[in-house]
Amino acid sequence: MSGVFVTLEGPEGAGKSTNLAYIADALRAAGCEPVLTREPGGTPIAEQVRGVLLAHHEEPMADDAELLLVFAARAQHLDRVIRPALAAGRVVISDRFTDATYAYQGGGRGIDQTRIAELEQWTQGDLRPDLTLILDVPVEVGMQRARARSALDRFESEQQTFFEAVRSSYLTRAAMAPERYVVVDASTDLAQVQQSLQPFIDQLLECWRA
Ligand SMILES: Nc1ncnc2c1ncn2[C@@H]1O[C@H](COP(=O)(O)OP(=O)(O)OP(=O)(O)O)[C@@H](O)[C@H]1O
Ligand SMILES: [Mg+2]
Repeated sequence: MSGVFVTLEGPEGAGKSTNLAYIADALRAAGCEPVLTREPGGTPIAEQVRGVLLAHHEEPMADDAELLLVFAARAQHLDRVIRPALAAGRVVISDRFTDATYAYQGGGRGIDQTRIAELEQWTQGDLRPDLTLILDVPVEVGMQRARARSALDRFESEQQTFFEAVRSSYLTRAAMAPERYVVVDASTDLAQVQQSLQPFIDQLLECWRA
């Protein structure tokens, strides 16, 4: 038995967490009870690593240290949550996963993609998401939402050029494998965004029933 692995991606304030809840409700209404999780994090140990990654520190964090912490948390998350749930035939929806590493540590920090690909292969083997939703918003729109919501974490405090690189990395990855990605314009009002999620939800239910 093998479940369905779904990831939600997009820059700060795109609406990932909001729409993950919406998608989960739609699945439950169709009789499917998803496992909801997030990265970095998803287990008690991985959530501690998340704390280190998101906090502001007096000491600058080296880019490679950041990358390895992301994958350390991911290895734990895969071992404790994602792989067991998929093995039990569940639909797993993660708020961010490895596409975020390509976007933030790759695009944003400028770490070579081949480095990231090596760690991806090491920790995940052949496991890749079955379906990835990318919520796309202009940087300024996402940042305004994030700012209005709460104090900015270490990533949210980056510069405009960092977020432009994050956004374009996501869109480039989506264009390279259109069968796995659905890109949604998340800059409109929430009702309209949710309406445009319907094809994604339908595709997901189709995967689940198959
Ligand atoms: N389409 C929308 N229009 C207006 N506001 C929105 C929309 N989608 C989400 N929001 C609001 O913007 C804020 C950020 O949304 P949310 O927390 O879902 O984003 P996120 O992608 O999870 O952000 P982060 O990357 O910081 O976790 C929230 O206050 C949310 O209510
Ligand atoms: Mg969120």
